[in-house]
Formats: sequence, C-alpha cells, structure tokens
Amino acid sequence: MSRTYFVTGAQGCIGSWVVRLILEQGDRAVLFDLDHHDKRLAQVLSPEQLAAVDRVQGDVTDTAVVRQAIEACQADAIIHLAGLQVPFCAADPVLGARVNVVGTLNMFEAARAIGLPRLVYASSAAVYDQAEGLEQVDESVTPAPATHYGVYKLANEGNARVYWQDAGLASVGLRPLTVYGLGRDQGLTSGPTRALKAASLGRAFTIGFSGPTDFLYVADAARAFVECATAPLDGARIFNLHGESVDVAAAVALMDEVLPEPQRGLIQVDGPVLPIAPRLSDAALRAALPDLPSTSLREGFGATLQHFQELASAGRLPTDDLDS
Ligand SMILES: NC(=O)c1ccc[n+]([C@@H]2O[C@H](COP(=O)([O-])OP(=O)(O)OC[C@H]3O[C@@H](n4cnc5c(N)ncnc54)[C@H](O)[C@@H]3O)[C@@H](O)[C@H]2O)c1
Repeated sequence: MSRTYFVTGAQGCIGSWVVRLILEQGDRAVLFDLDHHDKRLAQVLSPEQLAAVDRVQGDVTDTAVVRQAIEACQADAIIHLAGLQVPFCAADPVLGARVNVVGTLNMFEAARAIGLPRLVYASSAAVYDQAEGLEQVDESVTPAPATHYGVYKLANEGNARVYWQDAGLASVGLRPLTVYGLGRDQGLTSGPTRALKAASLGRAFTIGFSGPTDFLYVADAARAFVECATAPLDGARIFNLHGESVDVAAAVALMDEVLPEPQRGLIQVDGPVLPIAPRLSDAALRAALPDLPSTSLREGFGATLQHFQELASAGRLPTDDLDS
C-alpha cells in the first residue's frame, strides 16, 4: 500500500533527492517549503515526477500552518529537512533559532498531535567541534558545537529525547557533513559541488575551505532519510552519516580525474579548515540498516558531472550559485 510522506525543506538539495526516491518507490510526496521556485526539484526530478507532487507553501515556524498541512494530507511519515544553514544562522542567529529549533519543535508537536509513531529530522555533524580530532567520531563522543547552527541542531536532538521520554514519540536524527551532488548550491560546504559545476563549464573556482572533511553523496544521504522514516526504530535515535573522509585538495584531484582534459586544473582551494570533526563513523546506522548504499567519491563526482553536463546541454543548468 502506498504511503504519504510529508517532506519539509523539499525544495532544498537533500529534499529534492528525498522526493525523487519517494516517487521512485511508488509513494506519495507532499512537499512543504517556504520557497516554491522548483529550482532544484526541476533538476533532480523528471517533468512527469515534478507534475506528480503536491506542494504546500508554508513556514515551519508557524505552528498552526504546519499542523494543518500535516493533518490535511494524512501523512504516514514525516521527513523534516527545512532549515537555515551555517552562514544564514551566523548572519541572523534569532531567525536561525526560530527556523531550526522552533520549526523542529513544530514538527514534533504536529507528529504527536496526529499520533504518528516517529519522525525523521536532519541534525548535522556540526554538533561536533574540530577539536574532536582526526580520529573517527562515533555517537559516543560528546558534542561541542562551534557554531550557532550546531548548537540549534544539538538542541533539537535534546528535544527529540524529551519527546520520546515524555510522549513516547520516536525519532531519528541524522548527522551529515559535506553533502555533495546535483542541487547542492548553498551553505558552508557547498564549495566542492559548485567547483565541479564551474569547471564543467570551463570556469575557474576557488573552494573556500580546506583540510579534511566527510563527503557524502546526496543520493546516499536521501536514501538514509527515506529508510529511517519507516524503519521500526524506537527511542530518540541519533546517527552519524559517513561517506568518504578526504582532504579537500585530494577531492579536487579526483574531480580533475573525472573532468575532461580541457576542464582540469581550474579548481583552487583557499580558506580555513572547517570547525567540524571530519571523520564520522556510521557503524551504528549501518548496524540498524545494513542495506544503505555507499557511493564512492569518484563515482559520486562522476555522476554529478554527468548531471551537470546533461542539464547544460539542455540549457537547464542554473549557474547563479557560481556568482556568489
Ligand atoms: N547539505 C549538507 O551538507 C548538510 C549537512 C548537515 C546537515 N544538513 C541539514 O539537512 C537539511 C537539508 O539540507 P539541504 O542541503 O537540503 O539544505 P538547503 O539549504 O538546500 O534547503 C533547505 C530548505 O529549507 C527551506 N526552508 C528554510 N526556511 C524555511 C522555513 N522557515 N519554512 C519552510 N522551509 C524553509 C528552504 O527554502 C530550502 O528549500 C537542513 O536541515 C540542513 O541543516 C545539511
């Protein structure tokens, strides 16, 4: 029987891929987002898929609107991805808290009100400080976020724990780090994807951070969210996500390997090391859901480049993210 997934932040990068997977498995996706431009969805979905989704334009900070939208679509599962990323939270911490913390509380309240057994939400590896070091970090390491954004994500994890304790509402919080792939066009760690896009168009690009980070292909991230939405997990689970931990300079060398000869050597790296532990262990998630995919960085860059090339030849590749 087909399920209805209520997906917030569905106009975002991970959200677009989550919607694609939901549709591919024959289920219904109801998209909730402040934006209604379809910019990323139109890249990630086919025109037929795009026509098949239900969109609700709304703000996750509005308790009544969120509740009404979830009730109206009779959601079987919630995947909460709406949020403001690191630079936006740094620029306006009050708005960041409203969207990232109050918005997440609104999702829990709505889930509890309609009696859903669980929900899945995006936490982040930004709950860990860089001081956590170069060793693999698993969920037993005590978080120490270095950004407002990381503090908000950690607050959400705490609230999730209390909803389980007080209301028996289960949840899964997933912690990705540097998600890359088609549609990744904003946020602190979007540089590698934007660099690959720029180079595919023959343009130079400088990635604004350096050092090692944990690269995760967007389709793998999306699959983890979709699987966790219906897996019979109870408690307030928190899982790290992990792809491949490599230095940004090594990632650029890999991009140069997948790029055609004339487009190599266009990407530079210049900037500080990220304030986030770069090597995550996802052993706990893999133990709970052993069949999750694990795309290599080379494969992920290759697939992303192909997406860029196909969209560029169709005249449908947005490039506004390269000018910022
Ligand atoms: N991309 C990453 O590398 C990464 C890493 C760790 C965590 N995350 C988290 O995963 C989630 C999705 O990330 P993404 O890369 O797809 O983000 P994104 O920035 O591409 O998309 C976020 C979406 O949230 C929507 N949104 C923002 N404020 C809203 C509001 N008030 N009401 C409704 N919608 C609103 C935006 O319109 C946008 O479509 C976010 O919560 C993010 O913090 C992402």
